[in-house]
Amino acid sequence: MTDALLVETPTTDATWWRQAAVYQIYPRSFADANGDGIGDIPGILSRVDYLADLGIDAVWLSPFYPSALADGGYDVADYRNVDPRLGTLEDFDAMVAALHTRGIKVVVDIVPNHTSDLHEWFQEALAAGRGSAARDRYIFREGRGENGEEPPTDWESVFGGPAWERVEDGQWYFHNFAVEQPDLNWDNPEVHEDFLKTLRFWSDRGVDGFRIDVAHMLTKDLTDPLPSRAELERLPQDGKHPLIDRDDVHEIYAEWRKVFNEYQPPRTAVAEAWVKTPERRARYASAEGLGQAFNFDLLIADFDATQFRTVITENLAQSKLSGSSTTWVLSNHDVTRHATRYGLPPLNGSLVKQGTEWVEAGGPEEGIDRAQGLRRAHAATLLMLGLPGSSYLYQGEELGLHEVAEIAPEQRQDPGFFRGSEYDRLGRDGCRVPLPWTADGESFGFGAGGAHLPQPAWFAAHAAEVEAADPASTLSLYRQALRLRHRLQSEEELEWIETGRPDVLRFARPNGWQIVTNFGAEPFDLGADAEGVVLSNLEITGGALPGDATAWIAPAGLVD
Ligand code: NOJ
Ligand code: CA
Repeated sequence: MTDALLVETPTTDATWWRQAAVYQIYPRSFADANGDGIGDIPGILSRVDYLADLGIDAVWLSPFYPSALADGGYDVADYRNVDPRLGTLEDFDAMVAALHTRGIKVVVDIVPNHTSDLHEWFQEALAAGRGSAARDRYIFREGRGENGEEPPTDWESVFGGPAWERVEDGQWYFHNFAVEQPDLNWDNPEVHEDFLKTLRFWSDRGVDGFRIDVAHMLTKDLTDPLPSRAELERLPQDGKHPLIDRDDVHEIYAEWRKVFNEYQPPRTAVAEAWVKTPERRARYASAEGLGQAFNFDLLIADFDATQFRTVITENLAQSKLSGSSTTWVLSNHDVTRHATRYGLPPLNGSLVKQGTEWVEAGGPEEGIDRAQGLRRAHAATLLMLGLPGSSYLYQGEELGLHEVAEIAPEQRQDPGFFRGSEYDRLGRDGCRVPLPWTADGESFGFGAGGAHLPQPAWFAAHAAEVEAADPASTLSLYRQALRLRHRLQSEEELEWIETGRPDVLRFARPNGWQIVTNFGAEPFDLGADAEGVVLSNLEITGGALPGDATAWIAPAGLVD
């Protein structure tokens, strides 16, 4: 590769988000500056050069707010502060300034569906009693049965167990997630006002954008009689469902958009919305609303050419209709890492769910082909980074980390693990283990103390310092790809080029770049184009792209 190809193009305009590579930081597991075993904001500050060298355009920080950690920080006790264990607001400002100096935007997580039960509003609601204004900020109901001893409905929470919890005076409150995460009542104007205040608070501090947690669940229609769980599950999610993806949720985001547009450049937002169709997702991505929405279709696809092509085609068409840009995700803090998913033997068609079966089948080494998983992860990532739209990366994937299975039950933290939820019996801790920075030393350089989740011995080989020194490492591959990506991203279009092979995808971008991914086992002949390959995860020999590999071909004239 020539040095000329490595020139960076900083993104400073109001459309910076459209094709950004956004790196998700799970702050408690990124870097620990004070040695208490928990990653913190000064830890992130100490690693801004690493982030700049990686070549990303933005970071997204999972919640760093005061929290009892009943759900990894998604139980927020105070929306306008930093958890004292993670630092101070001054530390936050210093981190934002350091990232901005390096041309990296900052996106923070907003959790509007529920607060922590330790939030002052919920504590007030408990103290104030039934019928009070304080209780109206949440969803309180009388129970069924003679003395109200049964929950109002038989609904289940996402993490397993009942979705209603009884308080001392006998009323019940609704929680879609953990017991410690009471749902807010979005029919209450105070709730609206408070979130507008929070959005301005962080925007005023220089935050560039927001990631909106479970954006599709905020509004509810809880008019009596409430449906049973079975009825609820049968109801279509067509905008009128009592709990999920209701049309009226967009009134909230229209209010938020006005606030975002008070700033220059306007603040951005991306919805986490697990909705049924790309059409429903597009509503969240509208320019009058949040502006962008996560698309998890690649994340739930197998490593399969047909599935990838369908997902890409549909989502590009959909984003065109909404006027937004599309988003791509292969890993995040809620799912089994993609290097592991792609190494699992096929089972019932779904790779994500295999994460569960994998450990139950007898342990991390049984049935998994780690080398294949990593090869395919590289190939899928290079394909994703070559697509129009923004790519969201999750910390540790740039080190080629696998999911950590070796976590004893007593060391686990995920509420889903303990309550036997749909989040699988493994829980989500295996992708949240603190990052390895050095091959030796306390907690592999994560901090001077231990790590709040146990790191396995095999982390040593993936340490950032080890990979930085190895041109053949995952980190080197990500660095090259993210730098080249600034050259490759142009108009948000692609044109498929037929390959004559059902297991090989090839497309061209309007500026002439081409991406080829071989999902099969047989090498694919690139012919004379092999000369133009500037990046690939496996070596091209004799002009052929091996299986489980992606190649980036530069337009003529860009390579020596
Ligand atoms: C989605 C977040 O990504 C997940 O980590 C969290 O548990 C739920 N929302 C509830 O806030
Ligand atoms: Ca710390």
